[in-house]
Amino acid sequence: MSQLAPIICDNGTGFSKVGFAGNSDPSFVFPTAITTRGPAAQPSRTGPALSSKPSHLASKRGVEDLDFFIGDEAVANAQTPGYGINYPIRHGQIENWDHMERYWEQTIFKYLRAEPEDHYFLLTEPPLNPPENREQTAEIFFESFNIKGLYIAVQAVLALAASWTSGRVTDRTLTGTVIDSGDGVTHVIPCAEGYVIGSAIKHIPIAGRDITQFVLNLLRERGELANVPPEDHLKVAGKIKENYSYVCQDIVKEFRKYDQEPYKYFARYEGEHAATGRKYELDIGYERFLAPEIFFNPEIYSSDFLTPLPEIVDSVIQQSPIDVRRGLYKNIVLSGGSTMFQYFGQRLKRDIKQIVDRRLEASAVASGSQARSSGLDVEVISHKRQRYAVWFGGSLLASLPEFYSSCHTKAQYDEIGPSICRRYQIFGSAT
Ligand SMILES: Nc1ncnc2c1ncn2[C@@H]1O[C@H](COP(=O)(O)OP(=O)(O)OP(=O)(O)O)[C@@H](O)[C@H]1O
Ligand SMILES: [Mg+2]
Repeated sequence: MSQLAPIICDNGTGFSKVGFAGNSDPSFVFPTAITTRGPAAQPSRTGPALSSKPSHLASKRGVEDLDFFIGDEAVANAQTPGYGINYPIRHGQIENWDHMERYWEQTIFKYLRAEPEDHYFLLTEPPLNPPENREQTAEIFFESFNIKGLYIAVQAVLALAASWTSGRVTDRTLTGTVIDSGDGVTHVIPCAEGYVIGSAIKHIPIAGRDITQFVLNLLRERGELANVPPEDHLKVAGKIKENYSYVCQDIVKEFRKYDQEPYKYFARYEGEHAATGRKYELDIGYERFLAPEIFFNPEIYSSDFLTPLPEIVDSVIQQSPIDVRRGLYKNIVLSGGSTMFQYFGQRLKRDIKQIVDRRLEASAVASGSQARSSGLDVEVISHKRQRYAVWFGGSLLASLPEFYSSCHTKAQYDEIGPSICRRYQIFGSAT
């Protein structure tokens, strides 16, 4: 019997990426937002809703569907009287299970137009996700949606698998350091043979949302927003960030270039107000290189968080077991929307290499050794599928024949219960 393609669902803080295994891009990318009747909920529960009974949403869908909106429709209806918008995922973790269940329900029926009973599902989770959250997820998918089988993968491991498509990666290894930077959070995650080295993970409280806010602040300070309707401010800042920004090699030189030849580096942005059709224009300047500079010189934006990303990456690797460090430096893999800035990988590589070389030199001096160390290989992998790397890694793994035997099936779930999801089987790598 031929199987229908497994469904891959990567729900992020900002955006959900969903589609079918074997494809190179998700079929749908939309905000992880749900607009429901009543006021916007505060993040209600912090843990899983243990009291929630399996509700068999699949069997009673109908009228309720009219009562809420997800994704872009949720954003469009956020201001509808009587409705409120909610974001069920915060900092990568599901916080409101009722909303998340309804969100998944519409994702499956309305977007993917699939019957969940006919599919295996691959879902993703952030590093160090509490096992209770996995159980809660399994309960919803097996009991409410009645799916055939489930695999919950750690996002970082999927990002490593996605990098196999890069020409620079020659073996299918699941050892490497993943820098996953999305909308809400940036994680630096070391992995050895498919397992996350939990004790060495670090989070950085700077991601896409902050960079957009920073661009907005810069534009405002330069008086560029005077002619832009306030409701368009965030949108304009986001577009400038995504379409005009790049990482420079030296911030002082970059300022000088802009000041000497402004006509060459400043750009003109033209926008139009969606409702009124009124056109507006503004100049984009230093924002272009300052936006991603926040990763390398965080003090330009924040006074609470001051450690540059390259230092964080180095210290994550230094805190990992000594026998895997070489592999971690050699395979630093980028993943997520906020790693998409042009030249991001090159700058990161250069800065990490500097830190590593300085340390090697210092230890050579300290030991009085004449022999020069051959150095350490630092490689940062950028590739074509980096934007949706987690989703794409899921699509890749779920296309392998071993996928089905690595899943938990409905029969196993019925026999053992949600605790079955505490077990996790690595597959797919060649090493
Ligand atoms: N070309 C680009 N350059 C810079 N930033 C971009 C680009 N494209 C998208 N982004 C930003 O990436 C972010 C979304 O990334 P992603 O979909 O990986 O996040 P997420 O998975 O929803 O969040 P998280 O991983 O934090 O839970 C947004 O802030 C978006 O503005
Ligand atoms: Mg993500």
